Amino acid sequence: MNNDNKAKYAFGMVGLGTMGRNLLLNMADNGFAVTGYDKSEKMLQFFEEEGKKHDLKGFADIEQFVGSLQSPRTIILLVPAGAIVDSVILELQPLLAKGDIIIDSGNSHFTDTSRRYLELKEKGIHFFGMGISGGEEGARFGPSMMPGGDKEAYAVVKDMLEAVSAKVNGDPCVTYIGAGASGHFVKMTHNGIEYAIMQLLAEAYDIMKNGLGYDNNQIQQVFEKWNNGRLKSFLMEITKDVFLVKDDKTDAFLIDVIKDEAKSKGTGKWTSQVAMDVEMPIPTIDAAVTTRNLSKLKNLRVELNEAFGETEKIKADADFIEDLEEAFYFAMANAYAQGMHLLWKASIDFEYGLNMAEIAKIWRGGCIIRAEFLEDIYQAYQKQPDLQHLFSDKNVQAKIKKSLKGTRNVVTSGINAGLGIPCFTAALTYFDTLKTGRMASNLTQAQRDFFGAHTFERIDSEGIFHADWNKNL
Ligand code: 3PG
Repeated sequence: MNNDNKAKYAFGMVGLGTMGRNLLLNMADNGFAVTGYDKSEKMLQFFEEEGKKHDLKGFADIEQFVGSLQSPRTIILLVPAGAIVDSVILELQPLLAKGDIIIDSGNSHFTDTSRRYLELKEKGIHFFGMGISGGEEGARFGPSMMPGGDKEAYAVVKDMLEAVSAKVNGDPCVTYIGAGASGHFVKMTHNGIEYAIMQLLAEAYDIMKNGLGYDNNQIQQVFEKWNNGRLKSFLMEITKDVFLVKDDKTDAFLIDVIKDEAKSKGTGKWTSQVAMDVEMPIPTIDAAVTTRNLSKLKNLRVELNEAFGETEKIKADADFIEDLEEAFYFAMANAYAQGMHLLWKASIDFEYGLNMAEIAKIWRGGCIIRAEFLEDIYQAYQKQPDLQHLFSDKNVQAKIKKSLKGTRNVVTSGINAGLGIPCFTAALTYFDTLKTGRMASNLTQAQRDFFGAHTFERIDSEGIFHADWNKNL
C-alpha cells in the first residue's frame, strides 16, 4: 500500500472492483500515472498484484489518495449507483479544491447526476456523469464512453479517455456528449436499446425452437450465419456462442438448464419511464422491459400453460429463415430508431445539445450494442444532423421497405402459432402506426370531449372546440 502522498498521479479511481481495476490498468497501459482508493484491503491487493507491470499502488486512506493527485485532481468513481455515490462525494468534497473534477462512471440515474452536477458546480467542482459500456473486458481493453458535464473540464480528460477507449477505423469511441447529465442519459438509452436487442434475440430463438422445432445446433448455425452478414453485432456474436457451450454438470447444453426468469438492474426500466415522461414512444424497448417482468411470473405462466395449452408449430416454407433475418433486421432497426428518437427529444427538453452522429459513431465499437447497423445510423445523422427520426433517412427507408414482407410473414406466423413475440410485434405495430397519415385518434378526442368536455381541435379551422354530444344524438 502507498504511503507516499506526493502529488504525482494524473488520475485517481475510487472503487477498485473489477471494472475500476481494469480501467486503471488500461490507463496505465496507455502511459498514464494512475492510482486508486478502496477501503477493502483485498481489492487493494488485487490491484497491486494485477498492476505489478506498472508498479501500481493504491490507498486505503482517502486523504492520502487525494493528496497524491496532481491538480486539477481528476477522480473517477466506479462504485455501485445510488447512495454510495453520494457518500463518496461527501467524503471527497472537503479534500477537493475549485477546478477539480469528479467523474461518476457507474450506471447512475440521470436525475441523480443532474442534482450532483448542480451541487458540485456551486462549489466550483466539475462533475461528469460518464456512462461506460463494454463490461469488464471493455474497461480493460477499450470501452465506449459517454461523458457529459462541463465542456471546459473535458479538455483535461479528453486525451486520456481517447487513449483508453475502443477504436473504430482509428476513431476513438468516446466524445464529449453534452451538458449536465447527458452522459448518463445517453448510457441509459444505450441500455434500453440493449434490452430490446436482447429480447429480439430471445424471440428469434423462441421462433426457431418452439415455432420451427430447431435444435440448438441448428439455432447456433442460424445466429452464426446472421453474424456474418448485416446483422453482425456483439450481441449476435455472443448469442451464437451461447449455443455451443455444454453444461459441466450434465450432458446438456448450458442454455437448456438455465431458468427462464430474466433479471435486471433497472436501466431499461428507467428508459421506458423517462420516455413516458417526455412523451416519446419507444414500444420495442418497453416490450423488452415488460417481457423481463413477465418472465418472472413463472408459477402463473406454468398454471396458464396447463389451462390454455401449448403453441402450434409454424407452417414454414423454405424462405422462412430468410424472412426471420429480415424481421430481425426490421425490429432491430426499430429499437435503435426509437432510442435515437428519445435522445433527440431529450436533447431538446433537457438542453443537452446532443450530437446524434457522434453518439452513433462512439457506439460502433467497445459497447454492448455495437453493431454493423450503427454505421448506417452514423451516416444518416452525419448527412442530416437535425434528423428527427432515423426512418426519414432515404438509405434506411430503402432497407426497411425491403424487409417489410418478411417481417409481416414472421409476425403473423408467430402470432398464429400462439408464440409470445412482444418485441417483434411492438416493432411492427409501432412502424405501421408511425406511417399512418391520419390515425384514429380523432375518436379518442371525441370521447374525451364527450365524457369530460376536454375539447378538441378541428381539421378545418384553428382554435379549441367543445361539442354538446348528447344534444345531437
Ligand atoms: C449492465 O449494466 O451490466 C448491463 O448493461 C445491463 O444490466 P441488466 O441487464 O442487469 O439490467
